Amino acid sequence: MVSLDQIVSLCKRRGFIFPGSEIYGGLANTWDYGPYGVELKNNLKKIWWKYWVADRSDIVGLDSAILMNPRTWEASGHIESFNDPLMDCRECKSRERADKLIENWWEEKRKAGEFTGHENSTTVFNPPKPNNWAGEKTPSKDLFEFISHHKIACPICKKVNWTEPKNFNLMFKTQQGVVEEHQRDIYLRPETAQGIFVNFKNVLNSTRGRLPFGIAQIGKSFRNEITPGNFTFRTREFEQMEVEYFCHSKDWKDIFTELEKNSLDFFLALGIKKENLRWREHDKKELSHYSKLTKDIEYQYPWGWGELEGLAYRTDFDLQQHQKFSGENLEYLDPVTNEKFIPHVIEPSFGCDRTVLTILLNAYDEEEVKDEKRTVLRFTNELAPIKVAILPLSKKENLNNEARKIFDLVRSEFRTEYDDTQSIGKRYRRQDEIGTPLCVTVDFGTIGEDEKQGEKNTVTIRERDSMEQIRIPVKKLVEILKEKLGK
Ligand code: GAP
Repeated sequence: MVSLDQIVSLCKRRGFIFPGSEIYGGLANTWDYGPYGVELKNNLKKIWWKYWVADRSDIVGLDSAILMNPRTWEASGHIESFNDPLMDCRECKSRERADKLIENWWEEKRKAGEFTGHENSTTVFNPPKPNNWAGEKTPSKDLFEFISHHKIACPICKKVNWTEPKNFNLMFKTQQGVVEEHQRDIYLRPETAQGIFVNFKNVLNSTRGRLPFGIAQIGKSFRNEITPGNFTFRTREFEQMEVEYFCHSKDWKDIFTELEKNSLDFFLALGIKKENLRWREHDKKELSHYSKLTKDIEYQYPWGWGELEGLAYRTDFDLQQHQKFSGENLEYLDPVTNEKFIPHVIEPSFGCDRTVLTILLNAYDEEEVKDEKRTVLRFTNELAPIKVAILPLSKKENLNNEARKIFDLVRSEFRTEYDDTQSIGKRYRRQDEIGTPLCVTVDFGTIGEDEKQGEKNTVTIRERDSMEQIRIPVKKLVEILKEKLGK
């Protein structure tokens, strides 16, 4: 399996993802998408939008503001419940998440084979679950007791001298207004979902929507995570792709099952290997306060299984809360039965950055070719940042002129790159590492100067995965590329 270090290094070297603010020494756990990274991410967002919005007649889009009226977060429960339990080490002053300490302790014991399955203590096998962001909390007291009982040490200084856990709110706070006395605390949204709930009535009225229907949006969210890490897996600024699907309470089970299937199919369509995906249902303790049922799609990352998408039955919690806090009537009137009710919600919630990371890990491959290591990103054609590379065999002017003409022809149809530096072998390797599905080589045969290389007005197409090469007439090039790329 590819290591995270291999991915981080390739991302930097090839211009997918750079450390944030690098020339100033960086800012911990921030990442900037480079030229190929932004193409990849945009392709993912396009595919997601097509799959969840454009190809469906029952889901519409939205792009709501990141800054929202602070009452939103009172209503949603984030001000009260969006907390992590933090403990300070009295010895070295490091600050740790109590639930994470337990999770890591448990994982280490499991890896060391210390649990045989015959232990009697239920506490050993059922340590307090990691706290879910707005979920029913494991009381801090229990976490503290567990940590004290098992003498879980500080990961930095290895001593056991903890303060009791204190809750720390994960929302980023800032001020709105330029005059100090009139400044008002506001928050950067920790999920895009609330922008959808507060616009439910607007969307319903303006689109004359009929239940069941969904509202989707893609956008940035912010969480002051205590333990960000694993590259872009957990960061403080990240993008989400969320759908809130509104329905009558009697229909929720069928809709949940359908969205479950759609979610898995979505990842399979991205080329993610099925054996590295699994469903995991939250147990009661882990469920968020609004959720009656949550299932995560998890991926097998180099460090273990981790959440990629959450599918939650949010009941009518959010709309009820917003109706109560705003005083607006958020009921739906069924035009057929005349029944008035607050709709229930099923929510598929995807992390965009996390999916990009998963795509990179899933696509990474290494193989031996003529005693050399070839690294290749096997993206699907739709995801590949660059679809075609035009590679003239030499920098000679007449060859370059012809290659440029071919480049102009192809780039009007596909995202295309022109590269005439270094040996052809090195250029192929570079395109393999960027994940470009097809390379077109323009040689002296193309311009009628060397019959051994090929007939005049023909070029070579080289496929990334098989490395097979075929010679084709230039006049058929676009048509054949379209066929191969499935456009
Ligand atoms: N609206 C529901 C919600 O936000 P969540 O499970 O907290 O649920 C949904 O987040 C998805 O957002 C996760 O499955 C994950 O892919 C992504 N996500 C959450 N926190 C993240 C973080 N700190 N960094 C990157 N992605 C994150």
